[in-house]
Amino acid sequence: MNPADLPKLKTRLKTRRLANAFGAEVMDIDLRERQDDATIASIRALWNEYGILLFRNQPLSAQQLIDYSRCFGELDRHETVKPLRHAEVPELAVLSTIPVDGKPSPTEMVGRHWHSDLSYTTRPPLGSIFHAQLLPEIGGDTLFASTAAAYDALSEAMKKMIEPLWAVHDYMQVESMKRRDPAIVAELGRNNPPVAQPIVRVHEETGRKTLYVGDQLTRRIVGMTERESAPLLKFLAEHMVDPLFTYRQKWQKNDIIMWDNRGTMHLALADFPPGSHRYCVRTTILGSPSGHLYQA
Ligand code: SIN
Repeated sequence: MNPADLPKLKTRLKTRRLANAFGAEVMDIDLRERQDDATIASIRALWNEYGILLFRNQPLSAQQLIDYSRCFGELDRHETVKPLRHAEVPELAVLSTIPVDGKPSPTEMVGRHWHSDLSYTTRPPLGSIFHAQLLPEIGGDTLFASTAAAYDALSEAMKKMIEPLWAVHDYMQVESMKRRDPAIVAELGRNNPPVAQPIVRVHEETGRKTLYVGDQLTRRIVGMTERESAPLLKFLAEHMVDPLFTYRQKWQKNDIIMWDNRGTMHLALADFPPGSHRYCVRTTILGSPSGHLYQA
């Protein structure tokens, strides 16, 4: 495909903006159908432009979701995050509050902090495709933030200061680890040692700079003590979720959102009454290598 044709292709798809900073809904498309190369190229171009794409009313089977997701790259089989992995379909991650064998779901607390998926690995995914299948009557919303818009809004002096810095992403530091089954936490810890990532990442397709820290995952800047790191990381974590850079998704059954992990982050809210059930699945599209294992 000739890159010069992209603007024309993008306009083939009907879209509606979701928020000022980012996000668009793509309308009048049935993702159960096989999409031709030109349509996939236009979806990719819209994804790069808007960071998250919402598609309403998409009752896809597991195989249809996987087939669609593969149009954007190789899929993670969730080896390092086994509690997420669907029992029969390793390319699917399950995000569920439904008890399993009388025990709390192993994923009921997943995603309850601001993060970009699997940032604590050395090959973080370029994007994820999330399918809302069963929702509580109230809530179960997900918040999204544009890490590119947050970067753009910093002063030039701050941009210059943070440019050379790296932060340590440590999954074990997430608050909910304290409340999860210790055997699960121990396995996750073994499979996910701390990883150093640049605080400023360059999106490889758009060239935009983005911020790459989370509110709980990152407590240390490489070369600094935690005490020295805290004020700057706290500032960045708060700045990144300024309402100006966020969008709140109120899910409807069979919504699909594709999020770009290189230019957005998200937070799954536990804003539903206890005992409510929410069941969603996600595919995770592998990205390029980034960062390295951190040795203190
Ligand atoms: C996640 O993939 O981080 C979970 C998002 C959600 O459950 O809303």
